[in-house]
Amino acid sequence: MLKRIAVLTSGGDCSGMNATVRAVVRSALVSGIEVIGIQKGYQGLMDELYIALNTRSVSGVVQRGGTFLQTARCKEMRTPEGLQRACDNLKKLDVEGLVVIGGDGSLAGAHAIDQKGIPVVGIPASIDNDIPFTSPSLGVDTALNNIIRAVDNLKDTASSHNRAFVVEVMGRNCGYLTVVATIATGAEYSLIPEEPFALEDICADLRRRYHEGRNNSIIMVAEGAGRAEDIAAQIKERIGFETRAIVLGHYQRGGSPTAFDRLLGARFGRAAVDGLVQGRSGTMVGLKGASLIYSKLDKVTSAGIRPINPMFHYLANSLSI
Ligand code: F6P
Repeated sequence: MLKRIAVLTSGGDCSGMNATVRAVVRSALVSGIEVIGIQKGYQGLMDELYIALNTRSVSGVVQRGGTFLQTARCKEMRTPEGLQRACDNLKKLDVEGLVVIGGDGSLAGAHAIDQKGIPVVGIPASIDNDIPFTSPSLGVDTALNNIIRAVDNLKDTASSHNRAFVVEVMGRNCGYLTVVATIATGAEYSLIPEEPFALEDICADLRRRYHEGRNNSIIMVAEGAGRAEDIAAQIKERIGFETRAIVLGHYQRGGSPTAFDRLLGARFGRAAVDGLVQGRSGTMVGLKGASLIYSKLDKVTSAGIRPINPMFHYLANSLSI
């Protein structure tokens, strides 16, 4: 039986991380396992920033966005010396397992620690939804809802002024948020790194729309496909339309988690503790359909970006005529 485990949140924060930490802590405590919280992700592991977590430490956090354990991006963890320091500090802490909640870089760190003989289970948490072997990752649903709220508001002002808006969406090299938000907001165009696009075609189509009397157009662009400012300037230059650019930025990452992300966090957190107890180290928990699955971290970290379901491309393009 395990006596003590540790948990950390790493990389970019997302909504639902607190609900997940809560589930890790309480699932462990009911099984008689102590939990150490590592603050500020792998950086905190390097710097030995720890707090003991009890049932009260995770009271009142389920509805809060961000992560109360805090997080960081840690370059040192990518070096052999940093990895060794992380493992040495975990050994000093006398933990028999670690739960890592984070995105692709954080899961690569989790895999490296596990390879050094310290059992780790990962939880996929990133608004980008680029992590393979889970659909979705934690935080995606809340981010999507944030984007939808913002675009709904933009449509009001766009249609009052007969304007086009170019809306830049996060996602690093993955266009998932952009495509799905395009469908959900009824936006007209979705420019993503996975799909080539020609701005002149979009401009010709924009002109057609205005001739048909449409009073607004929303062009969603994934940050990996271009900059909203540049695209807006090019549209203005090519066809003279009054166009505004907006970068949704970190607004997308915050806010109270949706019901979906709270439930996902509860399930992922519980499954991660079960995984450590059952000796499933070196895995990541994930959602496949309605079921939880465990996938090997070596496969997860070597599979590349999770592809977007082609049905979403089709819907985004075909419904925006
Ligand atoms: O990976 C999550 C994410 O929000 C990306 O979508 C974005 O490119 C990046 O993190 C922003 O990173 P930072 O918070 O370090 O500016």
